[in-house]
Amino acid sequence: MADDWQNAMDHAVALARRAGEVVREALQHDRKVMTKSCSVDLVTQTDQKVETLIIQSVKEKFPTHRFIGEESVAAGEACVLTDSPTWIIDPIDGTTNFVHAFPFVAVSIGFSVNKQMQFGVVYSCLEDKMYTARRGNGAFCNGEPLQVSQQQDVKQSMIATEFGSSRDPEVVEKIFSSLKNILCIPVHGVRGAGTAAVNMCLVASGCVEAYYEMGIHVWDVAAGSLIVSEAGGVLMDVDGGELDLMSRRIVAANSRAVAERLVAEIDAFSPPRDDAPPLKP
Ligand code: IPD
Repeated sequence: MADDWQNAMDHAVALARRAGEVVREALQHDRKVMTKSCSVDLVTQTDQKVETLIIQSVKEKFPTHRFIGEESVAAGEACVLTDSPTWIIDPIDGTTNFVHAFPFVAVSIGFSVNKQMQFGVVYSCLEDKMYTARRGNGAFCNGEPLQVSQQQDVKQSMIATEFGSSRDPEVVEKIFSSLKNILCIPVHGVRGAGTAAVNMCLVASGCVEAYYEMGIHVWDVAAGSLIVSEAGGVLMDVDGGELDLMSRRIVAANSRAVAERLVAEIDAFSPPRDDAPPLKP
């Protein structure tokens, strides 16, 4: 069975690279934008094209596997993680960046079996950085091993986060109060690449000590979560409990000390879960 997962991972890497070519090409010619849940929740034809490319290819090679894909869920498919081998796909993580040609855009492919991530692939396609992790085998960027930062003092740390795509005033209030609390610890700085997947790879690379966000989706963080833990990092919920990939909340850090210090400052809220049953019309 182990070899099967390695085959699947090799296929994911090849697909992420091919998807990256499509994204780079589209960036030059084709950034027609549409909206999803609200006017700042963006999608393009390229998101849909890349997701279809990945899912069709995986279906041919691994016909029994299941999928959770950002654009398939937006089109009405269920977002349920079972014990079956499941590909969790964000065809373009950083769609807003893509629309504005802000140069951080990633293809994110996670693979879970028995609800446990087995491999994660994040291709930061404009930087040509291929981040990979296989459970128990470490994390890599373009083949070079990754290691989280050894900094234990949050006051010497750089933190990554995002503002997300909700403009609900109560949500924005909590995002800003968390940000203010964390800035005023004080930390060295706060950054955001505009893609959850790349932010997590920056934690794995030791460039930032931690990343937190409320409002992300399982496809944004599934692959990155394994890349962080295989680089020696820790994952937890924003309340300090165990990470639940469907909860839409995450802290990914180099150490428990830094993660718990951030948790103490986060003004937490609970967005509707990714696996919540759809609202009745
Ligand atoms: C978004 C990005 C962004 C984060 C949002 C995500 P998308 O993903 O990861 O950084 O703030 O919460 O939804 O929509 O570009 O795939």
